Amino acid sequence: MSTHYIPIFFLLFLTSFCKPDDQLTHAKPLTHSDKLISKGGSFALGFFSPASSNTSLYIGIWYHSIPGPRTVVWVANRDNPITVHSSPMLAITNSSDLVLSDSEGRTPWAVKNTNTGAGATAVLLDEGNLVLRSLNGTITWQSFDHPTDTVLPNMRFLVSYKEKVGMQLVAWKGPDDPSSGDFSCSADPTSPDLQFLTWNKTEPYCRLSVWSGTSVSGGTYLANTSSVLYQTAVNSGGEFYVTYTLSDNSILMRMTLDYTGKLKYLSWNSHASSWAIFGEHPSAPCELYASCGPFSYCDFTQVTPACQCLDGFEPVDGTNLSKGCQRKQAVKYGKQSHFITLSGMKVPDKFFHIRNRSLDECMVECSHNCSCAAYAYTNMSSAGAMADPSRCLVWSGELIDIGKSTTGENMYLRLADSSVNKKSSSVQIVLPIVAFLLLLTCIALIGVYKYRGKWRKKENQKKLMLGYFSASKELEGENPEFPSVNFQDILSATNFFDDSNLLGRGGFGKVYKGTFEGGDEVAVKRLSQNSGQGTVEFKNEVVLIAKLQHKNLVRLLGCCIHEDEKLLIYEYL
Ligand SMILES: *[C@@H]1O[C@H](CO)[C@@H](O)[C@H](O)[C@H]1NC(C)=O
Ligand SMILES: *[C@@H]1O[C@H](CO)[C@@H](O)[C@H](O)[C@H]1NC(C)=O
Ligand SMILES: *[C@@H]1O[C@H](CO)[C@@H](O)[C@H](O)[C@H]1NC(C)=O
Ligand SMILES: *[C@@H]1O[C@H](CO)[C@@H](O)[C@H](O)[C@H]1NC(C)=O
Ligand SMILES: *[C@@H]1O[C@H](CO)[C@@H](O)[C@H](O)[C@H]1NC(C)=O
Ligand SMILES: *[C@@H]1O[C@H](CO)[C@@H](O)[C@H](O)[C@H]1NC(C)=O
Ligand SMILES: *[C@@H]1O[C@H](CO)[C@@H](O)[C@H](O)[C@H]1NC(C)=O
Ligand SMILES: *[C@@H]1O[C@H](CO)[C@@H](O)[C@H](O)[C@H]1NC(C)=O
Ligand SMILES: *[C@@H]1O[C@H](CO)[C@@H](O)[C@H](O)[C@H]1NC(C)=O
Repeated sequence: MSTHYIPIFFLLFLTSFCKPDDQLTHAKPLTHSDKLISKGGSFALGFFSPASSNTSLYIGIWYHSIPGPRTVVWVANRDNPITVHSSPMLAITNSSDLVLSDSEGRTPWAVKNTNTGAGATAVLLDEGNLVLRSLNGTITWQSFDHPTDTVLPNMRFLVSYKEKVGMQLVAWKGPDDPSSGDFSCSADPTSPDLQFLTWNKTEPYCRLSVWSGTSVSGGTYLANTSSVLYQTAVNSGGEFYVTYTLSDNSILMRMTLDYTGKLKYLSWNSHASSWAIFGEHPSAPCELYASCGPFSYCDFTQVTPACQCLDGFEPVDGTNLSKGCQRKQAVKYGKQSHFITLSGMKVPDKFFHIRNRSLDECMVECSHNCSCAAYAYTNMSSAGAMADPSRCLVWSGELIDIGKSTTGENMYLRLADSSVNKKSSSVQIVLPIVAFLLLLTCIALIGVYKYRGKWRKKENQKKLMLGYFSASKELEGENPEFPSVNFQDILSATNFFDDSNLLGRGGFGKVYKGTFEGGDEVAVKRLSQNSGQGTVEFKNEVVLIAKLQHKNLVRLLGCCIHEDEKLLIYEYL
């Protein structure tokens, strides 16, 4: 009979002895040969020596479920290794501190746990998080709050907190050396709630796009898996954090700042038994901080990203753009200038963040400041409860570290008007002449229309008109012969479309009274922006006016197309 008991007892003994545990208690410390294994078997915590130095020991967390070389995601004592022969031990003290100690009495690493009483346990969760729990279950410390070089899914990476830099990742010194290297990444201390950079010591190394309020990314399909990765960015109550979540948690994904300074997004490819990179910064040499000189941008829309001059700029030095670009035509600030819209931009660094502005106010902020070179605007109200949902950025001086990609945002760049347009006195002479020419053109067009006498030729006519207007749109801002009025002038004439100047409103939009600098009074029709058919309406309007001109009603003096704005300037009766 007893022969049956012995193996059973032995088996029980064996299982309780060998069963990997995910917990560390006061009664059961972790020694050199032990490790904790998370409940689902994804991660392990224990002592390790990097391949290059088998005398140094570190406490770390690594993937337990994958073959091949150990991929370490967290290191406790990265700058204080212990020597192999000193019988190190990770233990919870009777006052619930988590302490790494050795036989020589050194404590290279410890988590002090004040006021939690006795009986705490440390548990390695299956997400790769080591948590210290007090007796009542409260988490008093977790490794996710103290990342080394890796962000794991479900970790709340605190980018900034109350306008201060939050967490940072610090790269390993070398491929096999977990000690703190020169590269790190963290929020920008000058605008911690808006941008994130990697640093080479204290120098910016690579800058990520300025946050534009997207709270949840559209989702990235991870290659060769059925899992979608979401990036959630939350900025509320002065707290800005980023979290990665996967639709399928069995997929392994991490974001790591590697020892070469590259911020890499990796997923585990189980077919190839290796990590596949699905995103990285820098991804091209010209993405390195300010490697394209001032006023030039790294163009990611090309197969091989390279530096390009901004519109209206030319290289300072032949074809070498590392010295940057210069204006083809200098802006005499305060004189005639206009803004052009550049889309898909990673907007420049060194911005001023002006709070609590609407898009119009942001534009005014820039156009009224003679040193302003560009502005960009985002309404971030979609990003949750924020005290100030607007993000008005303005730049003065040089524009540096710019990029262009399909995911960028609009940036409004100030350029000089062509030299003829600059002379506002000539506009006063040219304007009536031009209006007359336009009138003649319109009458001629109507003449053609009527001469042909066939309304069924509408299609041809439409093409003719479209051709005319697309040509005129090209001319706008370039050619003074088109009666295009500077948008800034209209703004000041109408006092920024102040309600006190509102004359009336119609189906096409509102009509304002405007007074130009010389005292000339006009009526400005501002076509409604959100009609969605602005350009068509604009064309119809001009056709209508052309028909009305000879009936001696109101005279069209000029027009203005500025981004989404379409404005008609009439005589004021
Ligand atoms: C590491 O261990 C190997 C044997 O496993 C030994 O040959 C080598 O000299 C050791 N290196 C160091 C730096 O101790
Ligand atoms: C903890 O243990 C030490 C000895 O290991 C003892 O001196 C100390 O009084 C204990 N503290 C508490 C709070 O029990
Ligand atoms: C748990 O205990 C800690 C102190 O050990 C205390 O601060 C915390 O409020 C307690 N939490 C709960 C839910 O009782
Ligand atoms: C980092 O900066 C140092 C100077 O502090 C420089 O020598 C080194 O080349 C830089 N590293 C890279 C990868 O640019
Ligand atoms: C996806 O799998 C195919 C073959 O299964 C492989 O050739 C390819 O490199 C994998 N792609 C990634 C990004 O892992
Ligand atoms: C461009 O100029 C920089 C110095 O400003 C120089 O280091 C670089 O080699 C030049 N590149 C080319 C392609 O000439
Ligand atoms: C934003 O500006 C408006 C007036 O333009 C003011 O009433 C409001 O209090 C401001 N809000 C904040 C958060 O500064
Ligand atoms: C931002 O957008 C919301 C709706 O999406 C709108 O209610 C709000 O007025 C906008 N704020 C500004 C400053 O444009
Ligand atoms: C113009 O902009 C510069 C820099 O952006 C700023 O220092 C200055 O105060 C601004 N001037 C006015 C009048 O707003």
